[in-house]
Amino acid sequence: MSGQGRVAVVTGASSGIGAATARRLGADGWTVVLVARRADRLAAVADDVAAAGGRAIVEPLDAADGPAVDTMAARVLDVAGPPDALVNSAGAGVWRWMEDTSHDELATMLGAPFLAAWNVTHAFLPALLARGAGVVVHVGSPASVAPWPGATGYTTARWALRGLHEALRQDLAGTGVRSCHVLFGEVTSDYFLANPDSHAHIPRVGRLIPTITPERAARVIVRTLARPRPQVFDPPMLAALQVANRLSPRLVALVARRTGRRRGT
Ligand SMILES: NC(=O)c1ccc[n+]([C@@H]2O[C@H](COP(=O)([O-])OP(=O)(O)OC[C@H]3O[C@@H](n4cnc5c(N)ncnc54)[C@H](OP(=O)(O)O)[C@@H]3O)[C@@H](O)[C@H]2O)c1
Repeated sequence: MSGQGRVAVVTGASSGIGAATARRLGADGWTVVLVARRADRLAAVADDVAAAGGRAIVEPLDAADGPAVDTMAARVLDVAGPPDALVNSAGAGVWRWMEDTSHDELATMLGAPFLAAWNVTHAFLPALLARGAGVVVHVGSPASVAPWPGATGYTTARWALRGLHEALRQDLAGTGVRSCHVLFGEVTSDYFLANPDSHAHIPRVGRLIPTITPERAARVIVRTLARPRPQVFDPPMLAALQVANRLSPRLVALVARRTGRRRGT
């Protein structure tokens, strides 16, 4: 889909899936609003977007901060008009047992993805509703389908994101605005560098699912913007997890437990 004249707000645009999505949208001619906390990283992505033929608007902020997001949205509506797409890809969170999780760590992982997605969608939704069009993509995790052990806060935050998507789907029926939950297996981003002591705890059963690149994740997101669907899995075999979980949630939970982290590790 040509993005000429189209506007997307992408959170988590300084790294990984969000950055790759911003670059891809730029190459398709979109105006991309880049949201994340690290201004220097956003500036580098903005250069890539511009070099690819798109237009970038850099908005360095903590997307968990509701008033800051409201101020950003007012600026964006003023200079670029109502967005056609919101891509909620900001996310963080170390994988810890509940008893090892500090208050600050929980606040960080609820802050993004959940609060960030809430704040950005909340800030732009009136404009999308007024126009009767728009696609909101939430970047989610298989942990929101079937939890695994030792990642309590991470999993809770991803269920909150999924809950936001499901609630929006209900609210938005018949409005022309679509909410999409896009779930990826492992992606070769900096996520596990930014959230140390997490990668080692992917359940062994997860090795059956091929790892994808941020660029591939971006292609899936951009495809979803063109053809919105409520739920998208990539790799597609991840959808089997959902089917298995519907058929036998106890078996899926058992496999995740048996191949996952043991207490004390
Ligand atoms: N990587 C995977 O294997 C994988 C698989 C499935 C799902 N996911 C999900 O995809 C999402 C994106 O992950 P990724 O792989 O792209 O990780 P990443 O490379 O670490 O990128 C995370 C992005 O989120 C931004 N961010 C974090 N907290 C923020 C906040 N409070 N406000 C604004 N921006 C914030 C970070 O930027 P700043 O630090 O500059 O703010 C960064 O741009 C996460 O929710 C993750 O759980 C990842």
